[in-house]
Amino acid sequence: MKEQVEQIKQNSIKEMEEVKTIKELTELKVKYLGKKGELTTVLRGMGKLSPEERPIIGSLVNSVRDLLDEKFTQKEKELKREELNQRLQTETIDITEPSQKIELGSIHPITQIIQEVQDIFLGMGYQIADGPEVEKTFYNFDQLNTPPDHPARDVQDTFYINDDIVLRSQTSPVQARVMENQKPPIKIICPGAVYRSDSVDATHSPVFHQMEGLVVDKNITMTDLKGTLEMFAKKCLGEKTQIRFRPHHFPFTEPSAEADVSCFVCGGKGCRVCKGEGWIELLGCGMVHPNVLRNCGIDPEIYSGFAFGFGVERVAMAKFGIDDLRLLYENDVRFLKQF
Ligand code: DAH
Repeated sequence: MKEQVEQIKQNSIKEMEEVKTIKELTELKVKYLGKKGELTTVLRGMGKLSPEERPIIGSLVNSVRDLLDEKFTQKEKELKREELNQRLQTETIDITEPSQKIELGSIHPITQIIQEVQDIFLGMGYQIADGPEVEKTFYNFDQLNTPPDHPARDVQDTFYINDDIVLRSQTSPVQARVMENQKPPIKIICPGAVYRSDSVDATHSPVFHQMEGLVVDKNITMTDLKGTLEMFAKKCLGEKTQIRFRPHHFPFTEPSAEADVSCFVCGGKGCRVCKGEGWIELLGCGMVHPNVLRNCGIDPEIYSGFAFGFGVERVAMAKFGIDDLRLLYENDVRFLKQF
């Protein structure tokens, strides 16, 4: 049995020298030292030995096992080092190769317009207000003098969460929220996303942005509205910009108007951008309807106000000469970095 142990020792050391990979080494370790390994088998067979022989063989097996254990550990270290060296040689990095450029983005045209318009109105003493995009039907419609049978509430163009909650179809509900919570004088603008069930084309998107404006105080008249919007149009689209008002209807203003600006490309002569009209429709506006003031707890006998709302995309398109709304949402840097 002594010879057998000696043989196992020799064989395993020899085989270990030939091993090239960690996997092979592990297999070899199992072969000799594993539960069913050769050395373990010898230990199991010790019952057959005489009581004198037993301790001698026992200690021999133990010392061989310790020796092999150490050799295996050493070999494993060697193999790992070799593998690392090999990887270091093959996986070299050429630090002289040009790197991939990290493109620096720019402020999105829609954000640019929002910031610019905010600056203009902050300069006129307005405050910026905010409201939820998931809005109560009550604020999106009822408080704004838009009763349940009004066509603006049509399910076809409004996203309802349920009967009482909608994705706001306009930024106008913020007016009602502010008026409920704040006593006049009120001077606010409110930028934000709005939602309508429109299919996407060159001038429509189910999500777009509006900017709402509201002023309520004593003695606010249509003249204030016109002066304010004229000032805004000139500051935003250029000093030569003309503005004109056409009568219109909105449930929450009386009288109501739509305002057009002279085409900033052709100056009013007619061109591709204004489709030959010379004018570009810009916004809806009017004097806040007495019912709306009353709904929000403001006495229309004492106070009056004006309001307006415009599409931010429309202004961005007009100002930057963009002819397809979809370009604003595709986030193609080649497009976006032009602004
Ligand atoms: N909310 C209107 C729309 O989405 C725009 C608008 C018109 C807002 C008149 C106003 C307003 O505040 O007074 O078409």
